[in-house]
Amino acid sequence: MTDPALPDDRLLDHEYDGIREFDNPLPGWWVWIFVGSILICFPYVMWYHLGEGSSVHDAYEAELAAYAEQLMATYGELTADDATIRSYMDDDIAMSGMARLFRSKCAQCHMADGSGNIGPNLTDDAWLHVTELADIAQVVRAGVPDKGMTAWEGRLSETQIVLVSAYVAQLSRNPIGGKPPQGDVVDPWPPPPPEQP
Ligand code: HEC
Repeated sequence: MTDPALPDDRLLDHEYDGIREFDNPLPGWWVWIFVGSILICFPYVMWYHLGEGSSVHDAYEAELAAYAEQLMATYGELTADDATIRSYMDDDIAMSGMARLFRSKCAQCHMADGSGNIGPNLTDDAWLHVTELADIAQVVRAGVPDKGMTAWEGRLSETQIVLVSAYVAQLSRNPIGGKPPQGDVVDPWPPPPPEQP
């Protein structure tokens, strides 16, 4: 049935089981927002995905990097001796920063949890090149070029080497049964130095 109140020229031709369709266009403002958003997507993709526009992710990374740098500055120039390395093993802030550094720089060979892959398992108490804490920093600094361990001197600052060594040292508190132990078992690390008054 046709509603006499509706203009006939806007009724569409087809009819299904007596049901007819009225050509009721979307409001102009709605259509223009729709068309506008399609048009904007081209320059958007060109600039943010292919061009130099910085994404939220880039901004976040940059902020984290700036924060890490500020944090590094607060540690000053650390020296890679046993006592200094030992004193950072219980520093939660430094260790969480180093967990990030470890994941980005060391995990491809040692796994993110340190359980070993190309490089040895760093969570057990057996070591190839280490008998005391300062040796960890020495391996990290000089690497083991003919066995595939990168030399980090020049790529990491001396302070970062000290802190990441403390991070590696504290991994053995929670041994993970990844790669089987390699090398010789080393005595437990010394207790923390007494608090300075
Ligand atoms: C490209 C692979 C690779 C990367 C990246 C790498 N390592 Fe290694 N690492 C090795 C290998 C392989 C060894 C074993 C060397 C050997 O067999 O003498 C090793 C050994 C070590 C050792 C000595 C272990 C022992 O038993 O004496 C330490 C400590 C270490 N790595 C720490 C790190 C840290 C910290 C990083 C990141 C800053 C890192 N490694 C990044 C491959 C790597």
